[in-house]
This record gives sequence, C-alpha cells and structure tokens, in this order.
Amino acid sequence: MIAFSTVFTYQPVNAEQALYNRLGGYDALAAVVDDLMGRLAADQQVGRVLEHIPDSRFHHVRQMMVDFLCAATGGPCKYVGKPMVETHKGMGLTENDWKLTVSHLKATLNKFSVPNNEQQEVINTIAGLKGSIVDS
Ligand code: HEM
Repeated sequence: MIAFSTVFTYQPVNAEQALYNRLGGYDALAAVVDDLMGRLAADQQVGRVLEHIPDSRFHHVRQMMVDFLCAATGGPCKYVGKPMVETHKGMGLTENDWKLTVSHLKATLNKFSVPNNEQQEVINTIAGLKGSIVDS
C-alpha cells in the first residue's frame, strides 16, 4: 500500500515548470490581476478608460483577465472572452498607455516578490499583444 505522504509529497517549484506554476498558480494570478486593476484604475492616464466599465461588467472583465493570463502562462484555464483586438478596439489606447500599464504590472509583480526571471517572462508573454491592444 502506498502511503498518502508518498503520493502527495510537496513538489518544490523549479524552472522546468510552466510560468503559471512558478508564479504561484491560480490564486496568485488572481491577486496579481486585482492589484494591477487597482493600480490602473488609480492612474490618471489609463484610469480614463477603465472608468467606463460599468459595475455590472467589472467582475466579468476581471475574471476574463485572470483566465486569459492563466492560459497565456501555461495554466489549466480556458479563455472564453473576446479576442484582444475586438475587446480593445476604439478605446484609443496609445503607446504611452501601454508603457504605463507595463510599469504598473512590474510594480505589482515586485509587490508580490516575483523573481526577475519570472517577471521578464510575464512581460515577454504580453509583449506580443501590444499590436492588438494599442490603436495604431
Ligand atoms: C496588458 C495587456 C492586456 C491584456 C492581457 C488585457 C486583457 C483583457 C481581457 C481578457 C479583457 C476582457 C475581454 C472580454 O470581456 O471578453 C479586457 C477588457 C478590457 N480591457 Fe484589457 N487587456 C490588456 C491591456 C489593457 C490596457 C492597456 C487597457 C487600458 C487601460 C485595457 C482596458 C480594458 C477595458 C476598458 C476592458 C473592458 C472592455 C469591456 O467593457 O468590454 N486593457 N482586457
């Protein structure tokens, strides 16, 4: 008979694991999204866009962001939201909005003591989305 402790031994995180796991999994990612959204909403420049999200949609948007980032970092989530271009089209997002968002994201990752390597991987993961989000 296999002992419970043998089967459920704690596995230390290592560099081979998906970024999602190295970030701490679902709850850690959800906390990152909540902190980031708070920072974006409080920012005078990018907050102008978020302020138009009605309260009734806010939870949906927050959930979609968590699921999107979960899937994008190799986690076990299925993103069922709209494509990035369709979602952000017409918001008039600028290069500067993008830079501000990335710097708020870095501040959030620092707050949660995410190591530099993982921070860079998160930034690389979203870097490819810029063309779909910023209005050219
Ligand atoms: C960093 C990269 C970004 C990612 C991964 C991202 C992801 C998402 C996702 C998944 C949604 C929900 C889509 C849905 O409802 O189906 C969303 C909505 C939204 N995003 Fe982004 N976003 C990013 C950047 C930005 C930036 C820079 C802004 C501007 C400050 C922004 C403003 C919004 C707004 C206002 C909505 C709500 C749209 C609505 O009410 O339908 N996003 N975003």
